[in-house]
Amino acid sequence: RKAAEAADLPQKARYTPPWADMSIIGIAGSSGSGKTSLAIEIVQSLNLPWVIILSIDSFYKSLTPEQNALAHRNEWDLDSPESIDFDLLVAKLLSLKQGKRTDIPVYSFQQHQRLEKTVSLYSPHIVVLEGILALHDPRVLELLDMKIFVEADADVCLSRRIVRDVRERGRTIEGTIKQWFRYVKPVFQKYVEPQRETADLIVPRGMQNKMAIQMIVNQTRQILKEKSIKHNAELERLGQQVDIY
Ligand code: CTP
Repeated sequence: RKAAEAADLPQKARYTPPWADMSIIGIAGSSGSGKTSLAIEIVQSLNLPWVIILSIDSFYKSLTPEQNALAHRNEWDLDSPESIDFDLLVAKLLSLKQGKRTDIPVYSFQQHQRLEKTVSLYSPHIVVLEGILALHDPRVLELLDMKIFVEADADVCLSRRIVRDVRERGRTIEGTIKQWFRYVKPVFQKYVEPQRETADLIVPRGMQNKMAIQMIVNQTRQILKEKSIKHNAELERLGQQVDIY
């Protein structure tokens, strides 16, 4: 553009392709409330290409050897906002929004560490962003098209978490319960629950709530339809052929 100005050439109108106009649905809620299951249910119900689930768990910070030893004894806080690399999350969301191929970290719950490998995401139209603190960071909130808070009884959450942590995350029953009462529960009260205030929609009973899922799916389709109308109008206004490749 600067070169065009310098050469005194007519400036070309700017066109933003539809895939750069990615929509993000944020799902927050207690650990074990069923955020992942709700996200999967939304993706399946939408039944559209280019819809992906991005877990904020991928953005846990790696721990020092000392912190790691404490985490293995369930004596390290992995729930407060400081445990998440929100700067990196925001950078990756912005990169995806620009339609760029983006590498996402892979996190190991067994090792409490980010792994060497990454996964690449490329131009999704819809990202379902799920995590206990999905509605916490103001920069993330700015980027969200829909804000959802999932609710479930604390005893349901705890029992689900014990089963999952023992089966999938290499934990013991005693360790999971210790971590719950020392960190997960107090941090839920301090940071997770207040996100209800920010939510557009509070979903009781998670993925069992078919009515809520239908509303989310309808609203998402509406968002996509409006974007499509906007892009078509923009193309017409520009009155030029745009190659899509
Ligand atoms: N956590 C952990 N060890 C780590 C990192 C995180 O035990 N090294 C725990 C944190 O204590 C936090 C939880 O992981 O409470 C976040 O994941 P959670 O919300 O439980 O899982 P999801 O599958 O994202 O959500 P849901 O259970 O609602 O489906």
